[in-house]
Amino acid sequence: MTTIRTQVGIVGAGPAGLMLAHLLHLQGIESVVLESHTREYVENRVRAGVLEQGTVEMLRESGVGARMDREGLLHHGVELRFGGQGHRIDFQDLVGKSILVYAQQEVVKDLIAARLGYNAPLLFEAEAMRISEFDAQPRIHYVQQGSEREILCDFIAGCDGFHGICRPAVPAERIRFYERQYPFGWLGILAHVAPASHELIYNYHERGFALLSMRTPEISRLYLQCEPDEDIANWSDDRIWQELRTRMTREGFVLKDGPIFQKGITPMRSFVVEPMQFGKLFLLGDAAHIVPPTGAKGLNLAVADVRVLTRGLVEFYKRGSQAELARYTERCLRRIWLGQRFSWWMTSMLHRFPKEDAFSHRIHLAELGYVASSRAASTSLAENYVGLPYDTPGLF
Ligand code: FAD
Ligand code: PHB
Repeated sequence: MTTIRTQVGIVGAGPAGLMLAHLLHLQGIESVVLESHTREYVENRVRAGVLEQGTVEMLRESGVGARMDREGLLHHGVELRFGGQGHRIDFQDLVGKSILVYAQQEVVKDLIAARLGYNAPLLFEAEAMRISEFDAQPRIHYVQQGSEREILCDFIAGCDGFHGICRPAVPAERIRFYERQYPFGWLGILAHVAPASHELIYNYHERGFALLSMRTPEISRLYLQCEPDEDIANWSDDRIWQELRTRMTREGFVLKDGPIFQKGITPMRSFVVEPMQFGKLFLLGDAAHIVPPTGAKGLNLAVADVRVLTRGLVEFYKRGSQAELARYTERCLRRIWLGQRFSWWMTSMLHRFPKEDAFSHRIHLAELGYVASSRAASTSLAENYVGLPYDTPGLF
């Protein structure tokens, strides 16, 4: 059997695994990244779109931000729309920060290009089947081209997303789960049509939530709250555009339709594991926590875990100290629970829940009215949306 020896074995080439591998490379720490899918698949998987300012800075400072800086769309605020009226939350004015709209798969492409550019190991169609001995001599058992292989490493980074194999490898008595399922999903589309607004619109309506986002000046990304088990076949393009128009109604607002070239349903859940370290196994990103997408936090939280683990590994390899690694769970969880709170709050405020009565509808409107009209409440939304400060110093 082929055995590869490395310092850090990374399972998963999503944003977490790729970013970790990149930052470690810059610090002279070796890693091998395993990815079960093809390069083409991961480079085209449609997901997140909003980068916090801290995420943008991390990409830029680590040398993978050139295309992002050219093509990303800088936004200084978002609109909250309800009761047929729009209210701008001005991030620049309230907290002096901004966000960048740049698709997750573009970040993934940039990180893959960087890694292949310096010839570091990134194995596609290499599926981790199981991990073992992560309290002593960690091993990752994987299959590539039909043959079984293994990686022998000092540490395993489980960056294999919500459905990966690393988290389930932890014995039940060592891990605790916190979970909330929401009784709705999001139907998301990509369409060849110029965005109807130059900023994102978070829209509350009696018929449910709608979101207008974008990818480029020619491509719109839109979402509709739907049933959690919605059958996409029931949603013709016409029905989608009509429903978006009904929910996003505002005087003078025109939502033009265009050819829809991608459609999908996303379930909504909040999920956290504690702890996130098990001997020499660390869980990062969606492998350890999921947020509903309403706060646009998922990718950003994944990258924040990477930042903490990189610092710990640098301390270990450069100074022989395990102190930072031992603090990994505590440091990550602080930010994760703040991200969970914000995502849960945005989700609760902006969606219709089953069996809600007229009273609940009025409460949604009152809360939105308060956020839109109070500088204190708008500031709270803004500082969370652009990303709370990190409590660990950066590497750069
Ligand atoms: P993933 O991206 O899931 O990557 C895990 C990787 O591991 C995958 O490539 C997978 O193929 C691989 N893998 C799994 N098992 C194995 C195995 N056994 N062996 C080898 N490889 C394996 N977040 C935001 O911050 N902002 C947003 O605007 C936003 N919008 C979103 C909209 C939608 C519709 C969705 C679905 C998500 C959104 N998110 C958003 C969340 C964000 O996409 C995720 O949080 C992010 O992808 C997490 O990155 P990750 O690297 O942890 O996991
Ligand atoms: C997106 O553009 O895909 C997007 C934007 C904001 C969100 C979620 C998704 O809250």
